[in-house]
Amino acid sequence: MPTFTFGSGVLAEAGPNAQELGLKRVALFTDSRLRASEHVAKVLASLRESKVDVAVYDEVVIEPTDASLQHATRFAADGRFDGYVSVGGGSVMDTCKAANLYASQPAEFMTYVNAPIGAGQKVPGPVKPHIACPTTSGTGSETTGIAIFTLRALNAKTGIISRRLIPTIALIDPDTAASLPRNAVAATGFDCMSHALESLTARAYPRRLNPAQGVSRPVSQGANPFSDLLAAEALRNVGRFLVRAVNDASDIEARTEMMYAAMLAGIAFNAAGCHLPHGLSYAVSGLTKDWHVPGYPEGKTLVPHGMAVVLNNPSVWRYTAPCLPERHLHAARSLGAETRGAGPADSGEVLAQRVIELMRATKMPNGLTALGFVASDVDALATGAEPQYRVIKNAPKDVSREDLRALFGAAMSYW
Ligand SMILES: NC(=O)c1ccc[n+]([C@@H]2O[C@H](COP(=O)([O-])OP(=O)(O)OC[C@H]3O[C@@H](n4cnc5c(N)ncnc54)[C@H](O)[C@@H]3O)[C@@H](O)[C@H]2O)c1
Ligand SMILES: [Fe+2]
Repeated sequence: MPTFTFGSGVLAEAGPNAQELGLKRVALFTDSRLRASEHVAKVLASLRESKVDVAVYDEVVIEPTDASLQHATRFAADGRFDGYVSVGGGSVMDTCKAANLYASQPAEFMTYVNAPIGAGQKVPGPVKPHIACPTTSGTGSETTGIAIFTLRALNAKTGIISRRLIPTIALIDPDTAASLPRNAVAATGFDCMSHALESLTARAYPRRLNPAQGVSRPVSQGANPFSDLLAAEALRNVGRFLVRAVNDASDIEARTEMMYAAMLAGIAFNAAGCHLPHGLSYAVSGLTKDWHVPGYPEGKTLVPHGMAVVLNNPSVWRYTAPCLPERHLHAARSLGAETRGAGPADSGEVLAQRVIELMRATKMPNGLTALGFVASDVDALATGAEPQYRVIKNAPKDVSREDLRALFGAAMSYW
């Protein structure tokens, strides 16, 4: 976990933090829209006031690819920086992590990418300090050792996972949320919700098959008492504040609480690991042909990560609940569902219905058909999800190809 500071105005602490870390010359990563924002301006002013030399990289691609990460790496390697600052959402923070990694520990690109898609090699040594400043309320990337990207050759999302990638310092300033478009609040809020739900229902750590110990232990260990606590708290905030945060940009309390929930859920899923909703989402975002969401970059098909994740949620909870009914009921209750009188047999439905209620209140698409998928696409979707076995194996039960087809089939429409 990084050292983190949460609160209004903490972006102005970037400079003193960089100075304390001994940084003389940093690269500031952001995206082209945020480049002109007051958030980037505040961080730049703070760094300059602390006499830290800064070079800005604003070419981060929203939903990054292997190509965009390599482009960012060239900037990082050429600049000979002694530290990094990221100001943006998951796309920015993940790009910064990858650029820092490859500039600090140079290697052929697929070396550190998760197996079986990449070689999955351990990062052999330290990377440079990274101060992460999130501006969305969902990924929790400021707290995780994960960088996600789309590998164009497979049209599949994958990532790099290493505790070395965990930012050194996270400055989480809820003031940044005021300028978020409503669709970004909704999509990132559901990403946060799903991180928490998946942490609570991941295969419990004593049942994990991975026998690695010591430094070889995976970053994510399965559901555990620590992540359970944080995930439940994150869900309480999502249940109370998500709809308000989406529908009213001036609702400072709601947007602040969603930033906090995203941070908690990030710490939780970094420790526990995600499973089916994330594994399935990567096939959905990779195979969607024509989808555009206001508030996101124009001109290319893009399914915001959190939207791809939530579309599979109700289908997954109906499927996984029978093996962990109490946990699904606990999750539903935390998320604000009425659970009085509900028994173990109802747990999947109660949780699915609560998620659907939140989807409807925030105008999410009604299942995969809204994105153009039809029933006969379940084969292609199942094939697209299979490379995600690393996360799918973290599900609380073993998942077959037939199960994957059925899960996508049940995600076609919900109301
Ligand atoms: N590393 C992790 O642990 C982790 C976890 C979950 C998701 N992810 C990845 O993160 C990426 C998605 O990141 P995201 O959902 O945070 O969004 P994003 O970074 O892709 O940004 C989405 C849009 O919102 C805009 N934006 C961001 N902050 C803004 C603000 N404060 N005001 C106005 N506009 C703003 C951006 O310019 C962009 O157009 C995906 O690639 C996903 O796979 C990573
Ligand atoms: Fe996510």
